[in-house]
Amino acid sequence: MTSILGILGHPLGHSLSVPMHMSAIFALGIDYVYLSFDVQPEELQHTIAQFKKEHIKGFNVTIPYKERIIDYLDDIDQHAKRIGAVNTVNNEDGRLKGYNTDGIGYLKSLKEQTGFDPEGKQVLMLGAGGAARAVAFSLLESGIKTLFVANRTVQKAERLIQHLGSYFQKATLYPLSLEKIVDLSYMDLDLIVNTTSVGMKNTKQSDTGRLMELLKFDNTFNKGLVVSDIVYNPPETPLLRMAKQAGLKIHDGIGMLVYQGAESFKIWTGIQAPVEVMRQAVSRALQEHH
Ligand code: ATR
Repeated sequence: MTSILGILGHPLGHSLSVPMHMSAIFALGIDYVYLSFDVQPEELQHTIAQFKKEHIKGFNVTIPYKERIIDYLDDIDQHAKRIGAVNTVNNEDGRLKGYNTDGIGYLKSLKEQTGFDPEGKQVLMLGAGGAARAVAFSLLESGIKTLFVANRTVQKAERLIQHLGSYFQKATLYPLSLEKIVDLSYMDLDLIVNTTSVGMKNTKQSDTGRLMELLKFDNTFNKGLVVSDIVYNPPETPLLRMAKQAGLKIHDGIGMLVYQGAESFKIWTGIQAPVEVMRQAVSRALQEHH
């Protein structure tokens, strides 16, 4: 019988995960399908119960359910528990277990695309939402020394820092408002990562402009500074364009999308995912629909 996989979120629109995972399934010739489950908030609980009843093999979870889903799962792995968010659910002998592959996917693609070694590094992260939590945990687990978290709503940055502080006592952690990033010395930074939605297709021009103004790369940065954006649509965000023009090394969001997907795929099927096939499918889908 065909095993069912999919993505759960709302609204989903043209999810890139569908062509990405379907391309992997076709390439391997395995008996799976990957579907899109666009589910209204009031239907979430019922849908999960139905998934269990129908023996759905596994699914990805995206906005806005990455945190809420935890209440409906039977088990959660340690890494996802620490992060407080789940992006992958696997049906293990009738029990639904939650995982988070976002951070692992992020790190893998960052290292691959830029050669960045987190050990002892200083990082400025923009944003303090769900994706930020996964990125922060993975960077700290890999040994970064300092993390500045800058967020529009500074209280959210403070809350995230407090949460991280209880796990990583040795790291230096600072919350700040977006306005305050102009006071940071770029000389001391090794990585800037954007986890906010600013720069995504359809972001208000004024919001993007404001952030670019705050981040302007003049000549006082560390020459090895890497600038990373988890936004993948468009692959070259205004932030990355600006960094490129300043001669900095850049890292785009496609790799994270592909590698988090590959990690999820491995959890569901036990098979190493064909990442190149998946990357091509994402690029094609971005050109066609996005
Ligand atoms: P995700 O799961 O993708 O991380 P999220 O949890 O809703 O989504 O987080 C979105 C992040 O983008 C937050 O850090 C948010 O800032 P606030 O906490 O202040 O809302 C940030 N963000 C969204 N729109 C923004 C904008 N126009 N300017 C600056 N930051 C923005």
